[in-house]
Amino acid sequence: MAYEQEINRRRTFAIISHPDAGKTTLTEKLLLYGGAIHVAGAVKSNKIKKTATSDWMEIEKQRGISVATSVMGFEYRGYKINILDTPGHQDFAEDTFRTLTAVDSVIIVVDAAKGVEAQTRKLMQVCTMRKTPVMIFVNKMDREGKDPFDLLDELEAELGIGVRPLSWPINMGMKFKGVYNIYQEKLNLYTPDKQKVSETVAVDIDSAELDAMVGEDDAAKLRQDLELIDGVYDPFDVKDYLAADIAPVFFGSALNTFGVRELLDCFVEIAPAPLPVEAEERRVVPTEEAFTGFVFKIHANMDPNHRSCIAFVKVCSGRFERNVNYKHIRLGKMLKFSAPTAFMAQKKETVDEAYAGDIVGLPDTGNFKIGDTLTSGEELHFKGLPSFSPEMFKYIENADPMKTKQLNKGLEQLMGEGVAQLFTHANNNRKIVGTVGQLQFEVIEYRLLHEYGAQCRWEPISLYKACWIESDDAAEIENFKRRKFQYIATDKDGRDVFLAESGYLLQMAQADFPKIRFHFTSEF
Ligand code: G4P
Repeated sequence: MAYEQEINRRRTFAIISHPDAGKTTLTEKLLLYGGAIHVAGAVKSNKIKKTATSDWMEIEKQRGISVATSVMGFEYRGYKINILDTPGHQDFAEDTFRTLTAVDSVIIVVDAAKGVEAQTRKLMQVCTMRKTPVMIFVNKMDREGKDPFDLLDELEAELGIGVRPLSWPINMGMKFKGVYNIYQEKLNLYTPDKQKVSETVAVDIDSAELDAMVGEDDAAKLRQDLELIDGVYDPFDVKDYLAADIAPVFFGSALNTFGVRELLDCFVEIAPAPLPVEAEERRVVPTEEAFTGFVFKIHANMDPNHRSCIAFVKVCSGRFERNVNYKHIRLGKMLKFSAPTAFMAQKKETVDEAYAGDIVGLPDTGNFKIGDTLTSGEELHFKGLPSFSPEMFKYIENADPMKTKQLNKGLEQLMGEGVAQLFTHANNNRKIVGTVGQLQFEVIEYRLLHEYGAQCRWEPISLYKACWIESDDAAEIENFKRRKFQYIATDKDGRDVFLAESGYLLQMAQADFPKIRFHFTSEF
């Protein structure tokens, strides 16, 4: 197959949702269609059950599962599909943010009864920021849920994106009869079944056939709804979807493998092939001959004795090959990889090559950090792996003075993996760890001990947010730092960070120093 064709048939995306909306179930059903698995229930849920939030061993177990399901590749109708899994637990939201930098589009799963939930809203902000094309799957139509029109309004208002239904449900819950596929103008009648794939029939919406299939009342309601949809929403234009202005919406029930095929068929047709990626120096186009890629995720130590990790590299352009030397830009040295892995369904296997759009896993013993660029030789630095303002903070102290070196080494590595963010207080030089969830503190403590033999102790610090500050007026920054010296820290790159103790104090600072810009992500 021609090289460009090979790249253009790739679809690399992530499924995001609030926990329990049905992400795992939908992923599994997509794999079922792709023939990557043969029975439902084969994909283990990698979500960390809410009840086990403080059970670190449980998380370890889950991590073991999730390395295999971090990326799931499969073939469908001539397309190569790569699904990037995102951790369900909200304490790992930062991981999810970064995974979103490696995808070309996103499918959002929403529970029909619950509508838009907190986690979805937050993740959508990242998609908006990056202008990632989004498709929405409204799940659990086999249960009573919100009125579909109300739900569409809610999606628009809460997610800040226009919507366009491309399928439409006929009733819901006990009376759910199926969906009309607006995109293909076909009817898909519902029979609950977790394993079997339902059949779709072409039907003229104005024909008596429709009445015979779903009953007169429901047929009339469907015609009325479709008319209303045409009246309210502009005709669907793929360009609007690709520009991230409009999100096509599908309805179904992942558990019953229903409405999933409509989603998948439309997805492969309209979702973007690998998109150009911005580097500091220039824009990199996927079909360029030379290989480039960046590390967006590091999966830590499956074996604590060896400190071995897997660095996940998104191939941005060209073809990655096994045993070929590539330049690790940050270290300025050439490296080659004898055992790169690709992820097909649930298997991790060594591969000889991978193309733009694919993800390769590189076994690593500490060479990689999140955001590192690899190229065939060109000096490039990929952008777009921002850190977000953490929301929880603790001072980290060394609890074993004999192991200072180990602690520092461990901390540096863990921060490089993106487990949390480290700030150094400008006033007293104490180290502050910032996270998005309580679990990260446990992760750090456990891993420092088990992988580096270092012991840490946490001390409380009451902070509301850390934000990066900058100004065109250097004197103003100096003035601010002087005035707020107890609240200034530096991040890992030595940049100034303001530690706000409360939302009120942050607002005050913003009002008092209008020439200073306060940023809530590290990339500005
Ligand atoms: P998540 O990855 O987004 O967290 O969600 P997951 O797929 O694990 O689904 C959460 C729960 O919702 C599961 O039930 C799952 O069976 C159920 N579910 C998913 N899709 C549908 C659907 O279309 N209809 C209905 N009625 N339920 C659905 P659970 O009881 O938490 O887990 P399990 O014991 O069934 O696995």
